[in-house]
Amino acid sequence: MDYVARMGVALVTGASTGIGRATAIRLAREPGTELVLVARREELLRELAESLPCPATVLAVDLTEADAPQKVRAHLDADHGGGLHLLVNNAGAAWRGSFADGGHANVKRHMELNFDAVVRLTEELLPLLRKSTPSAIVNVASTAGRVSRARTGAYSASKFALIGWTDALYSEEKATGVHVGMVLPGFVETEGFPATELRQKALTRWVVSQPEKVAEAIYECGPGGKAERYVPRPYALAAVARIVMPGLTRRVLSGGAATSLTTSTGGGDQGPASG
Ligand SMILES: NC(=O)c1ccc[n+]([C@@H]2O[C@H](COP(=O)([O-])OP(=O)(O)OC[C@H]3O[C@@H](n4cnc5c(N)ncnc54)[C@H](OP(=O)(O)O)[C@@H]3O)[C@@H](O)[C@H]2O)c1
Repeated sequence: MDYVARMGVALVTGASTGIGRATAIRLAREPGTELVLVARREELLRELAESLPCPATVLAVDLTEADAPQKVRAHLDADHGGGLHLLVNNAGAAWRGSFADGGHANVKRHMELNFDAVVRLTEELLPLLRKSTPSAIVNVASTAGRVSRARTGAYSASKFALIGWTDALYSEEKATGVHVGMVLPGFVETEGFPATELRQKALTRWVVSQPEKVAEAIYECGPGGKAERYVPRPYALAAVARIVMPGLTRRVLSGGAATSLTTSTGGGDQGPASG
């Protein structure tokens, strides 16, 4: 691996469960890591921090709140000397529903958490990352940010936006020494995306991956210097097919085969699907 950033202060959003939690555990294995764990549920963050083999502080904050980025910055200044070597923008959620049912309100809540909150936090912390170069940002997108399916339009829109913005940021920050990587998971079994239906059927069980595999990819796309990784890797074929064979892809995704890949999320009510 071509390492671009040294380990130091690493901030993981959405660290209380799932991919973020697995990422914190993975990063804690690297010598020199000092973790900052961010999410809303403080008790889960504290339990995790106490179990890790490296120094770790916690910050309970709702990242969609107006002053969340400033709170995170103040925490880094107060408890970590204003340094930041790795920012993992992982917190996110999905609430499944058609546009006719969820309307703009459902699009808005996806954009506020999966896109706006990431952009706002990155804006606040970019000066710290630039001051701490070589450093890195990893944005956790989704294969749903390449291929969109029925009832996941709002989630997909937020991840398409994240991918487009991340690609530009990669190019803009290249010269500054802040590497920008992106991870695109497919179905991964977590609290917010339990993939229960997929795991129950022998036909579809194989498509569900584990948070630890995404955590490894996050490490590769951060300090490891990779620009992007699908998890599992074959999910990249869906993105290729969408560009090279749009007609066929559309037919498959709106036909019976797509139904077998439908699952619920932990988002409750309209609870989402595709990771
Ligand atoms: N699992 C999949 O199939 C899959 C596939 C592709 C992409 N992804 C992406 O992977 C990322 C992590 O998801 P996951 O699968 O690990 O799901 P998860 O277990 O539900 O984790 C989501 C994390 O985000 C935090 N979070 C949610 N809303 C928040 C808010 N308003 N402010 C602060 N933190 C918030 C949650 O913590 P609190 O509730 O404690 O705040 C939790 O730690 C998401 O961006 C998701 O879109 C997941």
